[in-house]
Amino acid sequence: METLVNAHQAEAWNGYEGRHWADHQDRYDAVNAGFNELLLAAVRPGDRVLDVGCGTGQLTRLAARAGHAVGVDLSAPMLDRARATAVEEGVSTVEFVRADAQVHPFPAAAYDVALSRFGVMFFADPVAAFGNIGRALRPGGRLAFVCLDDFHRGDLGAVLGALAAQLPPSGTDGTGAAEPLSLADPAVVARVLTAAGFTGIECVPVQAVAHWGRDAVDAGRFLAGWGPIRHQLDRVDPATAARARAALVEALRPYQHPDAVRLRATAWLVTARMQGGAPC
Ligand SMILES: C[S@@+](CC[C@H](N)C(=O)[O-])C[C@H]1O[C@@H](n2cnc3c(N)ncnc32)[C@H](O)[C@@H]1O
Repeated sequence: METLVNAHQAEAWNGYEGRHWADHQDRYDAVNAGFNELLLAAVRPGDRVLDVGCGTGQLTRLAARAGHAVGVDLSAPMLDRARATAVEEGVSTVEFVRADAQVHPFPAAAYDVALSRFGVMFFADPVAAFGNIGRALRPGGRLAFVCLDDFHRGDLGAVLGALAAQLPPSGTDGTGAAEPLSLADPAVVARVLTAAGFTGIECVPVQAVAHWGRDAVDAGRFLAGWGPIRHQLDRVDPATAARARAALVEALRPYQHPDAVRLRATAWLVTARMQGGAPC
């Protein structure tokens, strides 16, 4: 990777977090795939697509079926899975690039649309990052991404609440930057995207069904391994961690159906277009 400014993120996504996503590619896709169609609605036949923070690349491969798509991500293990799966699926109009989207020298005006499924929430300098992504779009080019809301509209809020009740408060660094919830406030999204040169900004609340596991025990085990939760469990004593894991499983039971644990996931769908050129 050439230039890198999001060093902590690169460390996380090339360390435990990225390996967990790579090792459980299908499971994370089962959690997030419900948002694909909302994003792919921004793609037109023949489009040159940029998928930012593409991870293991499910959305990139789907977008590539309409034209040509490039996925960019910090994580080597996740990109390895993305490339291998593209070969397995016979998708040839796709490329994956390991780079920091905030500073990568994308070719100017090379893309018709930039997409992201939960991959744009971690930038140390969001205005610089979206400015860089904007320069990669042709004038009037489209941006469509989903980002986390504050979890309270969806079922995960109640599940995480049950877990949090067993744990001491975690606190944050207070900067609001580079955190998964950094774009949870639409006013922040509007401010960032406007400063980065986008126009026609819309933030729409959306929801999808997320499949977390076969049953509550399976889903609880998987969720306990998800980076943000594992981080919380690692910093408490074993008895507290065991109680928290048990609370997680109990909180998931109401969502257990015969086929799977299904939670209603919520997010913001953000759409905008790059200034200049005709709206398209
Ligand atoms: C929550 S995961 C989502 C992955 C994928 N879009 C999906 O839906 O499965 C966030 C992704 O953003 C990537 N990411 C975070 N900061 C990035 C940056 N500055 N440049 C490129 N990728 C980044 C991470 O490596 C990770 O793969």
